[in-house]
Amino acid sequence: MPSPGLSGPLIAPSMLKCDFGNLEAEISRLEDAGAKLLHLDVMDGHFVPNLTYGPMVIERIRERTHLLLDAHLMIDDPGRWLDEYLRAGCDWVTIHVEACPDPVPILRKIREAGRLAGIALNPETPVSALQSCVGECDLVLVMSVHPGFGGQKFLPNSTNKVKEVRELFGSDVLISIDGGIGPVTVPEVAAAGVEVFVAGSSIFDQNCYDTAISEMVSLAVAART
Ligand code: DX5
Ligand code: ZN
Repeated sequence: MPSPGLSGPLIAPSMLKCDFGNLEAEISRLEDAGAKLLHLDVMDGHFVPNLTYGPMVIERIRERTHLLLDAHLMIDDPGRWLDEYLRAGCDWVTIHVEACPDPVPILRKIREAGRLAGIALNPETPVSALQSCVGECDLVLVMSVHPGFGGQKFLPNSTNKVKEVRELFGSDVLISIDGGIGPVTVPEVAAAGVEVFVAGSSIFDQNCYDTAISEMVSLAVAART
């Protein structure tokens, strides 16, 4: 995995839920809270019915933090825009299997750039749609809500999908989960094999980010043992 030094469950704060008017302060608070990475939700208004930000904003974030930047590209035709996200300094780049007819050349390009290559799947997409990506990616992101907005309820079938992903890919990939993740849902998805927990509301709706992150780490560790 191209991110040496990372071990144990990782909590990835989803910046979709941060105070964008105070982005720099939010990043500092997350650094102080022990976050190792920032989950950046890129939305184009086409692939999902919401619009966020793109490479120009990520480039500025890159200048302000050494945390890993985990870009979740919820955009059509990600191959067309990939170079810009690589240039902006994303460490992890995850594309959606529904957004491109053949994700493999894009995943290869991400890896060739020395970054971690991820493939994401929506709740209605079967795990079998990822068959061609086996051996071609470093991370699989299971969407546990319909992508586009924070604050939605975790879809219960997602835990089974995590198990199916582990069966299909073996131990070679990191499994990430995104949507409705917090202290209530962390234990069951951790037990199913999730290592990267994307969390928006369950961090940013709390006063103390440190407590929110440490609680989820502890729950994930306990669920695995
Ligand atoms: C949704 C995004 C998520 C979202 C998670 O499309 O991919 O990262 O911000 O937010 P919560 O944790 O509030 O469900
Ligand atoms: Zn996301």
